[in-house]
Amino acid sequence: MEKYVINGGNKLYGSVKIQSAKNSVLPILAAAVLTDGQVKILNVPHISDVSNMVKILIRLGCKAEYIGEDILIDSSSANCFEIPSGLAHELRSSIFLLGSLISRFKMAKIAFPGGCDIGLRPVDLHLNGLKRLGVEITEKNGYILCKCEKLVGTEIMLDCPSVGATENIMLAAVKAEGTTIIKNAAREPEIEDLQKFLNAIGAKVKGAGSGTIVIDGVNTLGSAEFLPINDRIEAGTFLIAAAMCGGEVELECTSAENISSLLHKLRENGCNIHIKNDKIILESSKTLTSVKSIETQPYPGFPTDLQAQFTALLCICKGQSIVTENLFETRFKYVPELRKMGADITVINRSAFVRGVDKFKGATVVAHDLRGGAALVLAGLAAEGRSEVLDISHINRGYGSFEYKLRAIGGDITRVAV
Ligand code: EPZ
Repeated sequence: MEKYVINGGNKLYGSVKIQSAKNSVLPILAAAVLTDGQVKILNVPHISDVSNMVKILIRLGCKAEYIGEDILIDSSSANCFEIPSGLAHELRSSIFLLGSLISRFKMAKIAFPGGCDIGLRPVDLHLNGLKRLGVEITEKNGYILCKCEKLVGTEIMLDCPSVGATENIMLAAVKAEGTTIIKNAAREPEIEDLQKFLNAIGAKVKGAGSGTIVIDGVNTLGSAEFLPINDRIEAGTFLIAAAMCGGEVELECTSAENISSLLHKLRENGCNIHIKNDKIILESSKTLTSVKSIETQPYPGFPTDLQAQFTALLCICKGQSIVTENLFETRFKYVPELRKMGADITVINRSAFVRGVDKFKGATVVAHDLRGGAALVLAGLAAEGRSEVLDISHINRGYGSFEYKLRAIGGDITRVAV
């Protein structure tokens, strides 16, 4: 076990290089199983979700390894279509492999996935989409068993724009017979990035980002070297840190477009934000004011993955706010921890009612999930006095070199073995 020890109160100044997006790298790693070609993914963060996905690929018989900041994958030796519960429970994204394994082996056996404890995390939309492509699916002893003679393209309408279900169906469809049309598809930038990667290895995918994705099945796929988009959630996390602590922070290689809903809210809070090519500069010098309400929505709405971090900011803004979490059932587990730091916040059903206080007070708190854990780190950096954030393995899942990047801009934070 490890913890962060944080001495709060420093303003943040400097520049941060944003990593490749975790939620782009993970489906691309799953997509690499589709091809016998060589795949090289560039600028990949060293985070446990990615290393767990690499472990799964190796378990399937692929060659996969980190070389510096890149990952090399060769799936030509893949010889297994089963993901054991131990690995599947480590990682929600293991479910993405269903589409790839069925496409490659016409068989797949995966334990129901784990992931962050932020909600029920059903996979019905994934399974219904695969059934529409001709896959026979049974569920036994906590496993999802899939098989099919062949995959045949068809039209699939998603009940809700699920990111994972959209990605899984894309992966299953790229080598299916005929054309697949996904309607009410998720529109996240990471979906567009997956389309870009799939086309780079020879697939025929179009429409990602529009809500309707069209995939014309192909017979063979090849090799590619690919730089994923930057991580808009890491970028948003650092912008919120700068807003909470005060100072001036510049983010390199970041697309403002991908986090425009957050930038709009931070300007409402009173932050000065300048955008120069692929740089975002945020300057925050005075007490910020609240925003009346925040509702998390599928992209391009306010991202659920920034809900916890932004709520921490609202706790030290002047005024009151209501934060409503529309995507996941239990994504407020960080709230009791913020209350230990002096936050005035009450959760009723899917909404958190926040009354701004002057400052957080340092305290010892526990991370329960990835983004809630990041929110506690930001609160500690902005707090008066010393804080400890325990069980930071959740944070290691999605933020590479987190404390190094925060220290480089003035944050007093140290990782300590417990
Ligand atoms: C992806 O999760 C991301 N993970 C999540 O990021 C992100 O919060 C989420 O999309 C929403 O943007 C990865 O990309 C690896 P969904 P996913 O399917 O695919 C319901 C992080 O912090 N649903 O879009 O699991 C579901 O209950 C992680 O980086 C069904 O009902 O999210 C939820 O209410 C956390 N049936 C909504 O859709 C299904 O079969 C959105 O879920 C699937 C989903």
